[in-house]
Amino acid sequence: MLAILFGLFLLLCNPVCGVFQKLYCSISDSCDCDFKPNIRDLEWDLYKNVYGQHLAQDIVSEEVAKFLQNKSPDRPLVLSFHGSSGTGKTLVSSMLGNHLYGSAMSSPYVHQFVPTLHFPSPQRVSEYREELKSWVQGNLTECARSIFIFDEMEKMPSGLIDVLEPFLGPSHAVFGTNYRKAIYIFISTTGEEVINKLAVENRQAGRDREEIRLADLQEAIAQLVYNNNTSGFFQSSIIQQKLITCFVPFLPLSRRHVERCVRSQLCQQGNCGRADVVEAVGGDMIYTPVQGQYFSSTGCKAVPAKINFFL
Ligand SMILES: Nc1ncnc2c1ncn2[C@@H]1O[C@H](COP(=O)(O)OP(=O)(O)OP(=O)(O)O)[C@@H](O)[C@H]1O
Ligand SMILES: [Mg+2]
Repeated sequence: MLAILFGLFLLLCNPVCGVFQKLYCSISDSCDCDFKPNIRDLEWDLYKNVYGQHLAQDIVSEEVAKFLQNKSPDRPLVLSFHGSSGTGKTLVSSMLGNHLYGSAMSSPYVHQFVPTLHFPSPQRVSEYREELKSWVQGNLTECARSIFIFDEMEKMPSGLIDVLEPFLGPSHAVFGTNYRKAIYIFISTTGEEVINKLAVENRQAGRDREEIRLADLQEAIAQLVYNNNTSGFFQSSIIQQKLITCFVPFLPLSRRHVERCVRSQLCQQGNCGRADVVEAVGGDMIYTPVQGQYFSSTGCKAVPAKINFFL
C-alpha cells in the first residue's frame, strides 16, 4: 500500500515539479538547467584536438570565458564560424556543447538547426520565421543558458535569420532578462575565399601561420556575408547592427595538419604505429593552389574514408 502511494506521489510530483521549474525559470533568470560549464576542459580540448586554428582556439576560449564570468551579461554571445569544408567548424561547435552541458551535445538545451532539414523550402519563410521565433523564445523561457547552433548558414533561406534580431541585441525591453544568457553559433563556408587568399599570401611571403591576425579578416567577412545572397545573412539587420560578437575564421589546413588528423584517428582505432598510412593519406589529398600546393581542398574531411582505403 505504502509503495503504491509512493509511486503515485512520484507520478504526480514529476509533472508538478516540471511546471514549478518552468515557472521558476521564467521569472528568476537564474535557472541554469543542465548548464555545467568546464572552461578548463574546453580550452584543453580546443588546444589539444583542433589543429592549425589559432584564431578559432583563441577567440572561442577567450569569448566564452569572458561571457560566462559575467553573471548578468547585457547581450548574448554570438559567434559566427567561417571557413572551408573540413577545417573544424562543426568540431569546435560540438566542443562547446560537450563542455558546457552536463549531458553534452545531447542536452535538451543544445539546439541544432540544419536548414536543409528544418527550413527546406524558401517559399515558406514567413511560416519558418514564426516557428523559429517561438522555438527560441519558448526554449529561453525554459532555460536561459541555452545554446543555438545554426549550421550550413549558406543554405538558410534569405530573410529568415533576421527574426532573431531582438534576441541578439542589448535591448532591455524584450522578453525579460533570460535571453541575454544564451549562446548563438552560426556556421558557414561563406568567406572561405578571403580567408584562404590571405592564408596563401601569408604562406607565399614565408610568414608563420600564427601571424595571421583576426583584425585582418573581421571586417572583410562581415562585408562578405552582408553582400552575399547565399550567406544566410544577405542584407541582414543582424550584420547592420553589429550583433555578431565575433566572426571566427577557420584557416585552410596544410598537409601536416591533415596528417595529424590521420594519426589521431588511427590511434583511436588502436593503429597508432601505422606511419605508412599517415604518409599515404597525406599524399593522397588534393592540395591548392596548383602553384605551391599549400592547403588540402577538403581539409580533414575525407580522412576516415582514405584511412579505410589504405589500412
Ligand atoms: N582543425 C582540425 N583539427 C582536428 N580535426 C579536424 C580539424 N578540421 C576537421 N577535423 C576533422 O575532420 C572532420 C570534419 O570536420 P568538421 O565537420 O568540423 O568540418 P567543417 O568545417 O564543419 O566542414 P563543413 O563545412 O563541410 O561542414 C571531423 O572528423 C573533424 O574531427
Ligand atoms: Mg560542418
